[in-house]
Amino acid sequence: MSGILTFMRVAMLTGGGDCPGLNAVMRAVVRKGEVFYGDELFGFRDGWRGPLDGEVMPVSVKTFRGTLPRGGTILGSSRTNPYKVEGGPERVKANLAKLGIDALVAIGGEDTLGVATKLANEGVTVVGVPKTIDNDLSATELTFGFDTAVQVCVDAIDRLHTTAESHDRVMVVEVMGRHAGHIATYAAIAGGATMLLIPERPFDLDEVCEKIVRRHEGGRFASIVVVAEGAIPKEGAMATTTSELDAFGHVRLGGIGERLAGAIEERTGYETRAIVLGHIQRGGTPTAFDRVLATRFGVAAIEAVHDGASGTMVALRCGDIVRVPLADATSELKLVDPAIYDVASVFFG
Ligand code: F6P
Repeated sequence: MSGILTFMRVAMLTGGGDCPGLNAVMRAVVRKGEVFYGDELFGFRDGWRGPLDGEVMPVSVKTFRGTLPRGGTILGSSRTNPYKVEGGPERVKANLAKLGIDALVAIGGEDTLGVATKLANEGVTVVGVPKTIDNDLSATELTFGFDTAVQVCVDAIDRLHTTAESHDRVMVVEVMGRHAGHIATYAAIAGGATMLLIPERPFDLDEVCEKIVRRHEGGRFASIVVVAEGAIPKEGAMATTTSELDAFGHVRLGGIGERLAGAIEERTGYETRAIVLGHIQRGGTPTAFDRVLATRFGVAAIEAVHDGASGTMVALRCGDIVRVPLADATSELKLVDPAIYDVASVFFG
């Protein structure tokens, strides 16, 4: 492994929705940076708000003691977009210069990394680490936190099976997944769901009800319908809680589970309840798999910084950690592979 062994002042930030494994990434950046390269490490508070307002804290190996199993991010996160603030990018660059930061490690999803890409094009030294609970970044095969979220969903579904069966009820389980239904698909397969509804495949309510009725006619069975928050009926629109947009133009989703439960009960006559797993999927301790992936990303990110690989993002490809252009992180959404959906569909009804 190559690398510039002269020490640098490296700052990290975590942007967008949090997910389990963020602290594990930073712990790895800091460990390798401080111990191997002799770096001075910093953490910007609350995503891009930190560099925008110059709010930074020095961090060290000591700061990250005990954080490997800890969910969330000790730096805080936000959806601040410097490009939506008058003079924002200039303020970020001025603060980096004032603080003597040589390089940034930006840990985030398409929004956070979109900002990182623009700043890299404007001369800022920045390396990206992909983060999204939805696992929908096409440049990497997996993101940390996804495995944890799926496990949380499956634990919930396992519990819902027994109570649903006792009462001959249908349970609609709403999970995260704004544009892509990766969490829903994995949770449906591992949880033995009756039906799976994802953003990639607008659903027909009659077909959903038909499958449920067929299943219940065969005896007293629990019916578990897993629905991603971004799923859309063939005739209808996405369920949103407010029409307000965040700084990256996203609307807040939610409500499809309740809507669907009402419609299923009305059409089938079976008592139907909705369970929204929400932020439980993003909170708490990362699985061992996510801790390992996050740690590998963190080590690779600080190596990329010292190799002078600004404008790149670390990614998982065929089991290896590689570097890809930062711009690739935001160029295309990774949708659910039809082959995986087909596996889930074998168990519909
Ligand atoms: O983008 C990740 C995600 O968890 C989506 O699945 C969800 O729609 C959104 O973030 C929720 O964000 P927030 O916690 O800011 O409401």
